[in-house]
Amino acid sequence: MIPTIEWKNGRARIIDQTKLPGRLVYLDCRDVKTMWYAIKRLQVRGAPAIGIAASMGVVLGIKDSKAKNFAAFKKELGSAIKYIGSARPTAVNLFWALERMREVALDNSKKPVSQIKALLLKEALKVMNEDKVICREMARRGAALIKNGDTVLTHCNAGALATADYGTALGVLGKRIKVYADETRPLLQGARLTAWELMQHKIDVTLICDNMAATLMAQGKIDKVIVGADRIALNGDTANKIGTYNLAVLADYHKIPFYVVAPLSSFDLALKSGKEIPIEERSREEVTELYGTAIAPKGVKVYNPAFDVTPNKLITAIVNEKGIFRQPFDKTLKRLYR
Ligand code: MRU
Repeated sequence: MIPTIEWKNGRARIIDQTKLPGRLVYLDCRDVKTMWYAIKRLQVRGAPAIGIAASMGVVLGIKDSKAKNFAAFKKELGSAIKYIGSARPTAVNLFWALERMREVALDNSKKPVSQIKALLLKEALKVMNEDKVICREMARRGAALIKNGDTVLTHCNAGALATADYGTALGVLGKRIKVYADETRPLLQGARLTAWELMQHKIDVTLICDNMAATLMAQGKIDKVIVGADRIALNGDTANKIGTYNLAVLADYHKIPFYVVAPLSSFDLALKSGKEIPIEERSREEVTELYGTAIAPKGVKVYNPAFDVTPNKLITAIVNEKGIFRQPFDKTLKRLYR
């Protein structure tokens, strides 16, 4: 498997996902600014991968620090964390990873700055390596929901490109299934990334436009819908790529199970419901242009929320590395606190 993100010779190397499927190119992030832009522009994307990128971004942000004591170092670290935290607001993995990095520094505040820097790098690598184990654990647990011969509909990209390993939603899919991938407007993660990566893994994938899902469901072509998540509240309300909510409504109408697969790092149990999840709004050009060519009249009003929130009652089950959680989520997810 080609790694989506890795640490090599003092820099973070990512697959530049904006260039796929046309070209497989890497971007070397040698400083925190490059990493900030990589996250902002979706060169690295998908909630778990954003978390890993954020922790590496912190390492890049403090690597040249000349701080002589912890107080000075803490200030620089705080600025790097704040800066990376401003790249994208919805995927909670980003903030989860940043807080992990902050804690490592605070727990080792008595050590020399050079040692704290080394520990921060160690932690970033840990965030990445843990994600590999978690993807496999979710795949193992989620496999119980999928039968050989199933046809699954997915949205956006919750595969290897969104993580350090197999992926979340796509990780649970075995080989003997058929996948329909929503193209996922406006940025086409389904067409550009999911279709590409499933084809690389020789999985039977068919691409559809987002507005075709209802027809396929009515035709009896879809057995299950499986998606990832960017942030899950305590009651199970789930933020994921815009258009996920549409699918959940359609699945409910057609009595098709709707599953969410996401690691614990995507859960924000401090939020009682999805109403509290911040939703990123992105630039108008993402809607009015395609690869720099205008596809809408100049000056048209645009609304471009990047995520939506699927209400818990439309979700059949949520899978994470601890197990499969079912309704009522406000009770079952509470177990995760322990
Ligand atoms: O804007 P993106 O491409 O970062 O959005 C990604 C998604 O919505 C994914 O479905 C989600 O992060 C889960 S990735 C395992």
